[in-house]
Amino acid sequence: MPLSDFDRYPLTFGPSPVHPLRNLSRHLGGAQIWAKREDCNSGLAFGGNKVRKLEYIVPDVLASGADTLVSIGGYQSNHTRQVAAVAAHLGLKARLVQEHWVDWSDPVYDKVGNIELSRIMGADVRLDPGGFDIGIRSSWEEALADVEAHGGRPYPIPAGASEHPLGGLGFANWAYEVAAQEAELGVFFDTIVVCTVTGSTHAGMIAGFAALEDAGGRPRRVLGIDASATLAQTRDQVERIARDTARKIGVDRDLRDDEITVLEGWAGDAYGVPVDSTVDAIRTTGRLEGVILDPVYEGKSMAGLIDLVHGGEIGRESNVLYAHLGGQLALNAYSGIFD
Ligand SMILES: Cc1ncc(COP(=O)(O)O)c(C=O)c1O
Repeated sequence: MPLSDFDRYPLTFGPSPVHPLRNLSRHLGGAQIWAKREDCNSGLAFGGNKVRKLEYIVPDVLASGADTLVSIGGYQSNHTRQVAAVAAHLGLKARLVQEHWVDWSDPVYDKVGNIELSRIMGADVRLDPGGFDIGIRSSWEEALADVEAHGGRPYPIPAGASEHPLGGLGFANWAYEVAAQEAELGVFFDTIVVCTVTGSTHAGMIAGFAALEDAGGRPRRVLGIDASATLAQTRDQVERIARDTARKIGVDRDLRDDEITVLEGWAGDAYGVPVDSTVDAIRTTGRLEGVILDPVYEGKSMAGLIDLVHGGEIGRESNVLYAHLGGQLALNAYSGIFD
């Protein structure tokens, strides 16, 4: 059925802002770079891409009669912070499994930033020694069982809300929002650049733009920049969720291979650990634009964008839309980088 027929519970301010990054564009000497700002899309704990995904999941939460959202991520998960905020907003509890996804030696890594905010918002935060994995985790399944054993009614939200059956819809809606903003601005973004890890942000965009293309829209490239450093798993997850979301919103054809692009080269060796190109991209964007990126996600996708423009894979005539998905709260846990 069409996306507009799915229930949506508004958690964002409305369409997220789109604006040009003129200094960065001049610096790169090529494409015109714009940003669409999911990092300031909501009043709930600084917002971010998960708030947008949760807009399509909350109706199911409310229908289920659950009293506790149960989710999982790393210690500095942006996702769990947004789940905690949405739970607070809805008057529900949140049980969060925070796994040891990143070997990062900052002594306050499990105290500041995202995890601090989740605690402030009243979430039941439990640290777990498990390592990085974007798939379904036994620690999360145990937390669901534990909530139930204690008389609660849990609602399962997997890592990044990606493996949730409705997880791709939020960013399918983003594609429609982009099309409407393009009409207002008189610009067409031929290339979208997005950071991808658990996959449903990128996958939702692919599905949404496929639906728009089938309705007569111009084709465009959606370039996912891997920040998981487990490329095969992320690519699989993007592809599966994109196909599933496309089917759900009425795209009645198979997605083409060229519609599903996950690029490697900027994740470094491990999820959550910035490399030189990440730090350079953060500094460049900060100094030129006053726009702040994080070392886990957006610094890596911006590093990709910069190299793709320099290398000519993104042409000089291109209008590029950089999806800024949030993530800055983790910066406090990485302060050593910028000493
Ligand atoms: C700031 C930020 N950027 C990018 C991503 C990647 O999104 P996804 O997990 O949907 O691929 C996430 C979440 O994982 C995030 O918090």
